[in-house]
Amino acid sequence: MTVASSKHENQRIVSGMRVTGRMHLGNYHGALKNWLQLQHKYDCYFFAADWHALTTNYENPKGIVAQSRLLIQDWLAAGLDPKAAKIFIQSGVPEHAELHLLLSMITPLSWLERVPTYKDQQDKLKEKDLSTYGFLGYPLLQTADILIYKAKFVPVGEDQVSHLELTREVARRFNHLYGDNTAILPEPAALLTKESKFPGLDGQKMSKSYNNTIALTEDPESVAAKIKRMPTDPARVRRSDPGEPEKCPVWSLHKIYSSAEVKEWVVKGCRSAGIGCLECKAPLIASIIAEQKPIIERSKYFAANPQIVQAIIAEGTEQARDCAKQTLQQVRIAMGIAE
Ligand code: TRP
Ligand code: SF4
Repeated sequence: MTVASSKHENQRIVSGMRVTGRMHLGNYHGALKNWLQLQHKYDCYFFAADWHALTTNYENPKGIVAQSRLLIQDWLAAGLDPKAAKIFIQSGVPEHAELHLLLSMITPLSWLERVPTYKDQQDKLKEKDLSTYGFLGYPLLQTADILIYKAKFVPVGEDQVSHLELTREVARRFNHLYGDNTAILPEPAALLTKESKFPGLDGQKMSKSYNNTIALTEDPESVAAKIKRMPTDPARVRRSDPGEPEKCPVWSLHKIYSSAEVKEWVVKGCRSAGIGCLECKAPLIASIIAEQKPIIERSKYFAANPQIVQAIIAEGTEQARDCAKQTLQQVRIAMGIAE
């Protein structure tokens, strides 16, 4: 099977990641691995959402340019291929912003106010003043990100489903108002990423806000130190106390990283106190480090050659703009402000 013939060339996929720092293993096993698969099957547009980062972080935007580039550097290190996918930074394609503005004309406030993430995030991020116009508009900006490329599918997690629903409603309203119901802006479908509950160092979901992450490109020494410090089944006070893997966050990681044989060794050894916790952690440390090795090597290459990353972004930006400009001109004409 050749790549070309198996690729749904004309089915476009768009997805973005908010710029919040470097990738961690949870992001990698969730969204990014999915992108790596999709890039060979669809016409993919992947971007670092720097404007979306500003919606919540407008008070502290320092370093966002560097962070966007490092985020993309992590994608490239993980194997995202600029020959297969268009890779860019959102603000490099100002067409998103003009479409956002034009769509704001037809979007009832109530549609934005009832998007559940609006109130949820305001409650969760109490220390920030999110009673801004930009934050209310977050899902409409996302709508513009998607519709500007006439995406067919949008790979996202469960938490983004309400944003996709808004996207579809806005597209429908636009087509109804300006398209004689022809689909100038086709309605995209969510391509749900399997709920990735990738476990963090404390057993909770791995997340920057829980401070329980391992970076995708974390140093091997640091990986080993972090795993060695992980809490285990509290019943194992002494080496001779038996434990129960199901009560241990280390086991959650074994389930992802270890072979059937190793897992059996863990379960037996833990329940019989035949192995100690440090011993149990050793093959896990080895597996994580082995997974990261080629990624870290590529990351070092890109870090040493930042001009290559910047050239990849510049090319992706140009390709994305070619597509975005066409849609935008159709929208301007449909709305009567261009001929
Ligand atoms: N809101 C998305 C998130 O937090 C990121 C995002 C911005 C996005 N624009 C997008 C995702 C467009 C898909 C398509 O995960
Ligand atoms: Fe956890 Fe392994 Fe220790 Fe059992 S032996 S408590 S699974 S680290």
